[in-house]
Amino acid sequence: MTPRPVAEAIATNDDPLGRRFAFALSMAREAGRLAMRYFRSRDLSISQKGPRDLVTAADHAVDTLIRAKIAESFPDDGILTEESAGAISGTTWVIDPIDGTGNFARGIACFAISIAVCVDGVTQFGVVFDPAADEMFAARRGRGAFCNGAPLKVSNTNQLAEATVDAGYSRKAPLPDYVVLLTRLLDAGCDFVQFGSAARGLAHVAAGRVDGFIEAHLFAWDVLAGLLLVKEAGGYSADFPLTGNWQSGQPALACTPGLSAALTKIAATTLSQAEG
Ligand code: IPD
Ligand code: CA
Ligand code: CA
Repeated sequence: MTPRPVAEAIATNDDPLGRRFAFALSMAREAGRLAMRYFRSRDLSISQKGPRDLVTAADHAVDTLIRAKIAESFPDDGILTEESAGAISGTTWVIDPIDGTGNFARGIACFAISIAVCVDGVTQFGVVFDPAADEMFAARRGRGAFCNGAPLKVSNTNQLAEATVDAGYSRKAPLPDYVVLLTRLLDAGCDFVQFGSAARGLAHVAAGRVDGFIEAHLFAWDVLAGLLLVKEAGGYSADFPLTGNWQSGQPALACTPGLSAALTKIAATTLSQAEG
């Protein structure tokens, strides 16, 4: 018998979370197919939600598909998505239907579908699907992180002078903080990239392709899945509390264990003014 890919094996356990995990993997594939149809057709009906904050017909279509599928199969679960809001309570699906909409709208194949399930504020599993690269990143709390079934491990990098960090930015955070953040990173000899998809950036930390991810202002739907991926790949993920005012944006930080002290220090002095 051909062995099943590891992520599927841990997704089909006979328990409520295992069933949801298996469901999330298959839903992410279906959502990815839908997103790619829009991406290839370029029929996007782009509109603006705020300064440099776009939304397309694809964001709404994927959001609608995902909400309908969850409501049909798990009617008692909560759902929080970027495009339809919602609330976090009990067992809740936290979804970004397309993370990286700016890239998507420009025809750049750098975006992902991000799906997390949290129970009482703790993320239990996360799925980040990059449909253009056909990469399914998946992690379950305490059971590891995988890409297309292969186990993931963060890199061994422990010096900023040897690191590449995805330093995300949006107009929701103060620009001077970002300039200081980049200055500190560059002063320390670090390289930076700005992929424009927090979920995908975090997945790439989990895969050891970049060594850290940092951004001043993100929401739960952007990062819950990716932060668990990094943690389950042996990395460090700073807390992203869902208690209190989780509707406000918060800083997100994840990296290799060897970079956590240096990046936490830089974050503490550069991201403190991020606002809701
Ligand atoms: C955005 C992306 C981007 C980050 C922004 C997010 P969206 O999400 O994750 O990388 O810098 O802060 O808002 O709007 O593409 O879902
Ligand atoms: Ca997002
Ligand atoms: Ca989005």
